[in-house]
Amino acid sequence: MYGTGIPLIIADFVKRADLSTAEYVFVVLTYGAYTGAVENMTYNILDAAGRVSDYITKVKMADNYLPIFSPRRVKNLRC
Ligand SMILES: Cc1cc2nc3c(=O)[nH]c(=O)nc-3n(C[C@H](O)[C@H](O)[C@H](O)COP(=O)(O)O)c2cc1C
Repeated sequence: MYGTGIPLIIADFVKRADLSTAEYVFVVLTYGAYTGAVENMTYNILDAAGRVSDYITKVKMADNYLPIFSPRRVKNLRC
């Protein structure tokens, strides 16, 4: 998720995708810190596309929002 929402490119993909023959729709949302109401947004986008998600989950990933997240300094990284 970007900016407490769904990245536009993903929202656009969901709107355009033909999911009419999909037996199940699973959604995996990745985030770095907090998710806000992203499940509701996902529901609304799918609903507008005429689908309901069968399952939604969230996975916490490394935060790549660089204005807030500070990556470790290279000297502190273990390779
Ligand atoms: C521009 C931008 C905005 C982001 N906004 C959020 C946010 O609102 N909440 C959050 O938890 N993570 C936020 N993140 C962190 C990403 O959701 C997280 O790191 C995710 O794993 C990155 O997925 P990606 O590899 O598809 O970019 C943001 C990252 C970027 C680059």
